[in-house]
Amino acid sequence: MSRAELRAVGLVRRYGGLTAVDHVDMSAPPGMITGLIGPNGAGKSTLFKLLTGVEQPDEGAVLLGDRDISKLRPDKRSRLGLVQTFQVPSLFTSMTVRDNLLVGVENRRRDYGGGLFGLGVRKNPSHEQVVDDMLASLGLSDLADFVAGSLPTGALRLAECARALCAHPDVLLLDEPASGLDAVETERFSALLRRIADAGVAIVLVDHDVDLVFTVCDQVYAMVGGKVVAHGDPATVRANPTVQSVYLAQGSVAA
Ligand SMILES: Nc1ncnc2c1ncn2[C@@H]1O[C@H](COP(=O)(O)OP(=O)(O)OP(=O)(O)O)[C@@H](O)[C@H]1O
Ligand SMILES: [Mg+2]
Repeated sequence: MSRAELRAVGLVRRYGGLTAVDHVDMSAPPGMITGLIGPNGAGKSTLFKLLTGVEQPDEGAVLLGDRDISKLRPDKRSRLGLVQTFQVPSLFTSMTVRDNLLVGVENRRRDYGGGLFGLGVRKNPSHEQVVDDMLASLGLSDLADFVAGSLPTGALRLAECARALCAHPDVLLLDEPASGLDAVETERFSALLRRIADAGVAIVLVDHDVDLVFTVCDQVYAMVGGKVVAHGDPATVRANPTVQSVYLAQGSVAA
């Protein structure tokens, strides 16, 4: 099945006199990992909220394929295949990991007849089998019966991502998914993102870990002061003089 591209066209979001997102165009095509970087206050989270529907734009539009979804609330967008994870994981803390993933299955966009992103989910599975296979694929099987609130951060983030994947999204929007992951978990997570993108999903990744973004993404948008200041493949964006000056000033990106 061909999947739809997510696009932002001329997006503007103002808070009083401040323009947090200032005429931003971006596109997240199927099969690609699109990264969004920028210093504190650049407008990343605001743009993310405009894409997910948590906020409405003052100008411009969000398109999923040919459809203008700018006015749709997050739950409507998720029914169209746009699924997000949150900067603060939003699992039900008193429910087990398994039951949290079952919620994702209930919210699924379409059936799993063709498998699930090459993630080792068997063909034509029951709901429970989707969850079992997904947990195994993400190395979370041992935690299935723990309540989510008892998990360490790394496992919690992976479980949140697993729940989003159970919904079988066309577009996966990830806000700071790697914060709190250790080096091994981050590497495993990067490989997971690649497998999901290879299955045709459009992934949008916002993360403070610019090294992760540059390593895992196919294309990167760099924002400063609400505007996109650089866009292209990771090497191009990394070499951009504005990006260099912003991050070298913060001492966080090697050329
Ligand atoms: N609800 C709001 N009301 C007023 N101003 C806001 C609101 N949300 C964000 N802003 C302002 O908009 C600008 C962009 O903020 P945003 O949170 O999008 O940046 P960010 O790139 O996500 O930053 P960070 O890296 O710190 O998360 C900032 O100046 C911020 O103070
Ligand atoms: Mg933010």
